[in-house]
Amino acid sequence: MTKNAAKDFGAIEADYDFFIATTDEAERGLDAFSPYIDEAGEARQSIRMLDFGCGGGDFSAKFLTQADWSPDRLTLSLVEPVEGQRIHAADLLQRFADKPIAHWPALPETGATPFDLILSNHVLYYVPDLEVTLKQLIAALAPDGLMLIALAGRTNSLIRFWDYAFDAMGKAIPYHLSEDLDQTLARLGIAHDRETVAYSMRFPDTRENRMKILRFALADHLSELPTQPLLDLFDDWVKGDQIDTRTVFSHYIIRATNL
Ligand SMILES: C[S@@+](CC[C@H](N)C(=O)[O-])C[C@H]1O[C@@H](n2cnc3c(N)ncnc32)[C@H](O)[C@@H]1O
Repeated sequence: MTKNAAKDFGAIEADYDFFIATTDEAERGLDAFSPYIDEAGEARQSIRMLDFGCGGGDFSAKFLTQADWSPDRLTLSLVEPVEGQRIHAADLLQRFADKPIAHWPALPETGATPFDLILSNHVLYYVPDLEVTLKQLIAALAPDGLMLIALAGRTNSLIRFWDYAFDAMGKAIPYHLSEDLDQTLARLGIAHDRETVAYSMRFPDTRENRMKILRFALADHLSELPTQPLLDLFDDWVKGDQIDTRTVFSHYIIRATNL
């Protein structure tokens, strides 16, 4: 199903950076990906990896630091629609691979090498058609390839902003959640493992900090609603002078050999 899921991360770069600085989401995600990083590296001498929706490359930098693969083993490709972030990521990540990093705003229809490892960390919310993208990514996997996906669903604290805001606007959430991915994987008969990852978000409780998280979560849609009720949604998470919440997202592990 096609959704109007586009979100311009170029326009909310500083707010997204604030979110990243307040949370251990990346660290907990990496801990949970660890066994699969080892699996990908142990199974093959050369690794053709795609980071789909790499942003500025910080997550892949952590991922590849943990993998510690020799640069002559890695061929790295990136997909990221925000040009400045994509170029930044290619520069940042070049030290992990001897070969020049290929990077595109969208996955090319032809000519991209099959990938041994596809990583998509908190990206699939924003693709226009989840089924189409999932099929493209699976078609891009090598016969023994591995795909690692992180995506949050309705049990995630931040999704409450989408729930509240789009309900108040009388619209369905335009983004894809882990529940949508569950349904799409089931409909397509794609075998996978699914794990729950716990993480926390903590920052000094000021109006501006609450606004930063709202701008990250709602982007353009924020201007369509009165702000105060949205700011009040943080009240449940006040601990002293901090906003402090523990929450979860899901990891999906798809092995091409099981398809
Ligand atoms: C929450 S950020 C995650 C960035 C990075 N994967 C990380 O973990 O730090 C989501 C990223 O998905 C990108 N994105 C949005 N729509 C996309 C699409 N249709 N295809 C690929 N990436 C997309 C955004 O530009 C943004 O960089």
